[in-house]
Amino acid sequence: METFVRQLTIRFRVSLATLLIGLSAVAILTITIDAQQSQDSTATDQRVDAMLAKLTLEQKIDLIGGVEGMFIQAMPEIGFPRLKMSDGPMGVRTWGTTTGYAAGIGLAASWDTELARRVGVALGQDARARGVNFLLGPGVNIYRAPMNGRNFEYFGEDPYLASRIAVHYIEGVQSQGVIATIKHYAANNSEFDRHRINSVVDERTLREIYLPAFEAGVKEARVGAVMDSYNLLNGDHATQNKFLNIDVLRNEWGFKGILMSDWGATYDAVAAANNGLDLEMPSGRFMNQKNLLPAIQAGTVSEATIDEKVRRILRTALEFNFLGRDQLDLGVPLYSQESRQVALQSAEESLVLLKNEDHLLPLDPHKIRSIAIIGPDAFPAVPSAGGSAEIDSFEPVSFMTGLSDALGTNTKVLWNRGLKDLKDVFGDSGVSAFFGGGGAKFFTDPEGQHPGLKQEEFGGGSISGGPTQTRTVPNINSWGGDQWAEPSRHKKAYRWTAYYIPKTSGSQRFIAAGVGRDAYKLFVDDKLVFEQEPHEGQVPQSRDVDLPAGKAVAVRFEYFPQTDKITCGLGVITPSDMVDPEATKIAAQADAVVLAVGFDPRTEGEAHDRTYSLPSGQDDLIKAVLAANHNTTVVITAGGSVDTSQWLNDAPAVLQAWYGGSEAGHALAQVLLGEVNPSGKLPISWERRLEDNPSYNYYYEVPGSKDDPYKEGIFVGYRAYDRGDTKPLFPFGFGLSYSTFDFSHLRVNPAQASADGPVTVSFDVRNTGKVAGAEVCQVYIGDPSASVPRPVKELKDFERVVLDTGGTQHVTITLNRRSLAYWDVKSKDWKVDPGTFKVFVGDSSANVPLQADFSAK
Ligand code: BGC
Repeated sequence: METFVRQLTIRFRVSLATLLIGLSAVAILTITIDAQQSQDSTATDQRVDAMLAKLTLEQKIDLIGGVEGMFIQAMPEIGFPRLKMSDGPMGVRTWGTTTGYAAGIGLAASWDTELARRVGVALGQDARARGVNFLLGPGVNIYRAPMNGRNFEYFGEDPYLASRIAVHYIEGVQSQGVIATIKHYAANNSEFDRHRINSVVDERTLREIYLPAFEAGVKEARVGAVMDSYNLLNGDHATQNKFLNIDVLRNEWGFKGILMSDWGATYDAVAAANNGLDLEMPSGRFMNQKNLLPAIQAGTVSEATIDEKVRRILRTALEFNFLGRDQLDLGVPLYSQESRQVALQSAEESLVLLKNEDHLLPLDPHKIRSIAIIGPDAFPAVPSAGGSAEIDSFEPVSFMTGLSDALGTNTKVLWNRGLKDLKDVFGDSGVSAFFGGGGAKFFTDPEGQHPGLKQEEFGGGSISGGPTQTRTVPNINSWGGDQWAEPSRHKKAYRWTAYYIPKTSGSQRFIAAGVGRDAYKLFVDDKLVFEQEPHEGQVPQSRDVDLPAGKAVAVRFEYFPQTDKITCGLGVITPSDMVDPEATKIAAQADAVVLAVGFDPRTEGEAHDRTYSLPSGQDDLIKAVLAANHNTTVVITAGGSVDTSQWLNDAPAVLQAWYGGSEAGHALAQVLLGEVNPSGKLPISWERRLEDNPSYNYYYEVPGSKDDPYKEGIFVGYRAYDRGDTKPLFPFGFGLSYSTFDFSHLRVNPAQASADGPVTVSFDVRNTGKVAGAEVCQVYIGDPSASVPRPVKELKDFERVVLDTGGTQHVTITLNRRSLAYWDVKSKDWKVDPGTFKVFVGDSSANVPLQADFSAK
């Protein structure tokens, strides 16, 4: 009940406060509610103290380290139940099959805060149906560059958009009596070598770009838990970072919930204990009795510090009423039509139409007798990318089956994967289980008489001295171990040598894959072709090598596994053989083609970065299909932008699908067939070439470079493109509709405002097209007279408006002090410089037809 009152009062206050701004009723209402809250919280604090007093120091320490991977342990003496966690963020995925909602980046592409709340509520329900107390989401790290393997989980490049989506998502989850966990705090914007990477970010950039979504989650949505990230920030690991955990989160933002570590992101017991970490997950590897009892005795950690952590855990559990009811609600279905509807809506609204030449879309099912659906992402469904967010979803609907379901029996749907899978390149067994497993064409002799490779095994983890074992194997394609396995103490190394004899002259594509921290090197005729360094996580690598026909080349593959097992593959294929000729044949005979390309859990996900280019062979497939049938819509599955340079000019229609969850196939069909008018808008800027990305020179550490990582500072995404000559291919906020919209009648009031606001911006938006649709009206502010460099414009509000054809809506938004302010490093506070401000209103960061000035002092 307590929880319920808290949830209701918070939501009541937020929504009424927004509606009634300026009316004295708000003040009275807020005071009443605050009084109620403080009574509740005094009672809770008293209960917490009483519980705490019954625990021994040992028990208290036990409580601050997780157990069994996903739990906080029970303390029966004080009636404290075991608390269960589940990964999100796009489904309650840890405890079996579940419903998958559109991934975070797609949810942000909807720009629909009410949808974010609905998804949150549905996730909260799914959690209750599984007895889950903590949902490990949302993830709110900012998108800097497309390679970050976890961009798909996050809400894009803009801190304001990310904040709005996060707040509504969290409120939705917590309204169901489930703690949301905002992650990964902070500046965790790449997956490459994530345990060791040091994000060097200046304070202004942190405050303006990387922290606001966390701040809003804490201050507005009152999120119950925060998760510290793996990386270091300005020299200190997040889990022992005083600035992040104590100065900002606790003291400035007033966070009262639980600060937990990411799984295995604690590196030092005393430093973590003293710098704000409340809960080490998944176990007390550092914050345990063995380390902390002597530290307490020696006075390097105080018992009061431990008490404070336990207090936070107990208080949060009480506030969510975990001691007063069963978290498992058997009345909530594990699978429901309501959840499916939310999943469908999230997938539909996430789709961004990037290109639609000559109105190719929507397709008219009455005119199309046959449609070819081609590509590696067409079937089976790819509801999510990989890692801890990967979902095992109930009957995930693939693009192929979704389209076929929607078209019924009148239109023939022809399907072809289009490309060879890795298993067709590597060989028939082994690593195929993970990377896909064929037909490697290696020989032990240069004449090509004896198929196979010489395999040598070495002890001691390096290729030196004589091999301990030598044999001949048919291919390199072995699934030995678990990608997350702990490194072995008995390290081995392997060397394979063989000959390859190309049948044709020209490019030959070598493809290799390993897992986890395994390293390898490939040499062709003694020249290094590529190598994999021993960092956590990896995606398959490929490189084309020019070779003459009929001449044997020596191939050498050296492999250094972190465990004592072989889990790797190597193959070679002539690039033109990657594309299945049947795919282009069905493309040529169909009335229309849908070409589903992109990534999947093997090529994009947690613990490694992905490539900017589409996985090997996909550009060739797109070009071949476009040549066979121009009537082709390219659908991209990816957590962000991809390299489109080889084919975009020839592709008449392109849709960005992100990762759409369980219902992605139905959603795509609705949009392709015009049942749903696309309304998604990019939450990222899409660069023309990777080199144009503002973080290009600072994303990966360049050996010998003096540049700090994050040197682009606050000029991330459109904030950078706006001030230079380089323009993005598709700007932030951009997305096409089957309709058109017109903006007019901008008014800004007052024309001379106070620095504290409020400033009211109002305008009309009209649907001038032939079909109903939704437009996302975006309001940006510029501060050209500021005393510090500021972006030309920054998103400060937006509204998604649904309009019938011919319909007009008057939109009013209110700006406050924070909308005008920047982070002043001198005063260490938000500051508004008096002067002229600019208002821009439009449908993307690059199209702002309405503009006006006002002054603030
Ligand atoms: C991820 C977290 C996740 C945790 C638990 C970690 O590897 O970074 O986002 O919540 O695992 O699965």
